[in-house]
Amino acid sequence: MTKPTFYITTPIYYPNDTLHIGHSYTTVAADALARYKRLRGYDVMYLTGTDEHGQKIQQRAKQAGKDVMEFLDEIIAWIRDLWDRLDISYDDFIRTTEPRHTKVVEDIFERLIAQGDIYLDAYEGWYCTPCESFWLERDLKDGKCPDCGREVNFVREPSYFFRMSKYVDRLLQYYEENPDFIQPESRKNEMINNFIKPGLQDLCVSRTSFDWGVHVRSNPKHVVYVWLDALTNYITAIGYGSDNPEERAKFERYWPANVHFVGKEIVRFHVIYWPIILMALGLPLPKKVYGHGFLLMKDGKMSKSKGNVIDPKLLIERYGSDAIRYFLLREIPFGQDGVFTPDSLVERLNYDLANDLGNLVHRTAAMIHRFNRGVIPHPGSYQTPDIELRDLALQVVKDVEAHLDEMQFSLALTDIWKVVRQANKYIDDTAPWSLHKQGDVERLNTVLYTMAEVIRMIAVQIQPFLPRTGVEILRRYQVAPAAREWSSLYKFGELEAGVVVELGEPLFPRLDIAEELAALADLTGKKAGVGSSSNTAGQTAKTSEKESQKVTETAQANAESKSLIGIDTFSQVELRVGQIQSAERIEGADKLLKLQVDLGSEVRQIVSGIAKHFTPESLVGQRVVVVTNLKPVKLRGVQSNGMILAASEGDTLKLVTVPEGLPNGAIVK
Ligand code: ME8
Ligand code: MG
Repeated sequence: MTKPTFYITTPIYYPNDTLHIGHSYTTVAADALARYKRLRGYDVMYLTGTDEHGQKIQQRAKQAGKDVMEFLDEIIAWIRDLWDRLDISYDDFIRTTEPRHTKVVEDIFERLIAQGDIYLDAYEGWYCTPCESFWLERDLKDGKCPDCGREVNFVREPSYFFRMSKYVDRLLQYYEENPDFIQPESRKNEMINNFIKPGLQDLCVSRTSFDWGVHVRSNPKHVVYVWLDALTNYITAIGYGSDNPEERAKFERYWPANVHFVGKEIVRFHVIYWPIILMALGLPLPKKVYGHGFLLMKDGKMSKSKGNVIDPKLLIERYGSDAIRYFLLREIPFGQDGVFTPDSLVERLNYDLANDLGNLVHRTAAMIHRFNRGVIPHPGSYQTPDIELRDLALQVVKDVEAHLDEMQFSLALTDIWKVVRQANKYIDDTAPWSLHKQGDVERLNTVLYTMAEVIRMIAVQIQPFLPRTGVEILRRYQVAPAAREWSSLYKFGELEAGVVVELGEPLFPRLDIAEELAALADLTGKKAGVGSSSNTAGQTAKTSEKESQKVTETAQANAESKSLIGIDTFSQVELRVGQIQSAERIEGADKLLKLQVDLGSEVRQIVSGIAKHFTPESLVGQRVVVVTNLKPVKLRGVQSNGMILAASEGDTLKLVTVPEGLPNGAIVK
């Protein structure tokens, strides 16, 4: 049996600069849907890529003093690395400078000239270079670009035009016959009222005042308009017009696209020009164009000049890709605008991920260990609370399916979290610890099994959104392949009893809100380098050496500005005498040392940023002061449980040491 296909695309982004969290938003949403469809048994084609031609790119490369291809290659490497770090499961990445694309664009242009859909004339009007958009006088807002508000230039040059007007009636008919074509619904009326009703002009489709683009084969001083070039990526990438029969078969297989995901500002190109181009080529139209909303910052649109953007790589490095994916998909209803605030990010991660999900998974595994040696027990007979939780879990599968059919990611996640919260409540209500104390083994077993089975169902469903966490939970609970499939969700009780659960570390660390807000303020406007190394981000948040230093500095600055503290605040810090047993360097981190510190009753591993000041050998045997009640963190992937005190001035740094005569573990106060 052949699988049904599902073809989904993102816009191909302009690589005139590195991308920000807004671009990540579209790509993560498309990824969640692609993963979901694969899980539902579809043969998915998920396409993303870059839109590399046009005046803007040429100008940017020139400003950077680089050859255009060299400039592009660097940014494309950066972008692909970003998608790797975000676990984007794209099946193909198209660059519009690739021959598989440019050749077909040339062919298409010639064909459209030959059939009279494209004709030569001269253009006189306005052009917005950042948007690569032509505008009529009547479109301008206060003389500026109606989309981005920036200056427009008057251009007068010989140009080819596309006879858009010829296809308008068929386009409107398509809208009518396919009421779901433009989503959300409201964007359709906007398009009809603003662009079609006032009379759709023929579109200028070539430029002659610069040369970075696909040249018109029969008249090479013309460069194909970047939007005509860009839109066709959706068919060239899957083999339209290819000489290779295998590629052409791919086109037959996947076209028409099931959905193009785009931001609302480019819906116009996708629901007017793109369908008309396809009609002219005699091709079927995409089934849906989903124009989602904007991710905004508190002070409006993200922009480099405002300095309000956060480099997505720095966010991923700090919190892990799953956390960022969760935030983007959960916080902003798809279709609407949403505001990114550091507070909302930290709250989502603390409450939804650490408290609700992380805690559920961890406390369940801990109880199975405490009460049943880690073995998932066979359930006895189910009672009302178990049945209620089971029915909710089964119902939510249906709700998630319905919401994902409408691409409502935030609602699907809200559905799943209903089960997460209910499961936590179920544990509080059934109190397995009391059942254990009373020796009610059968009831205890049923409760423990129900908890574990609900966790399995949650893990299967979160995979499209939080792929790492989903797989990690399934691994810890040793879930068999068949019970990881979507179809396994229609039946309660698919989890195998008798296997041992792995306790593991908490899935998400609980964050210190003040510390994170300071760190996020610090990250804003900063940038990870172009071409920086690829990621090994694990489940939990990772703090790079440099950042952790930044966090410490910010925390210090905060403390300084915050006046005096009382003795009770000070006494919350636990300080003890410790002796360094061993010290070693950490590969790839030239400031960090991994220490094993003897605290009398235990030996602690501490990662300390002192490698520039001490050789590992000189530290062994030193008796130091250790902060012993710090939250554990991971530095460069290495767990650190505490901190040793040091004093510094300028480049000099000395350890705070303790004279002989006190045992390891003695309290310092
Ligand atoms: O328009 N919020 O490329 P582009 C949400 N090359 N989404 C955002 C966003 C934000 N703040 N900022 C960007 C182009 N996006 C053309 C596309 S397609 C044939 C050619 C996302 O680099 C959103 O998907 O300006 C938006 O439509 C896209 O990035 C624009 O990317
Ligand atoms: Mg744009």
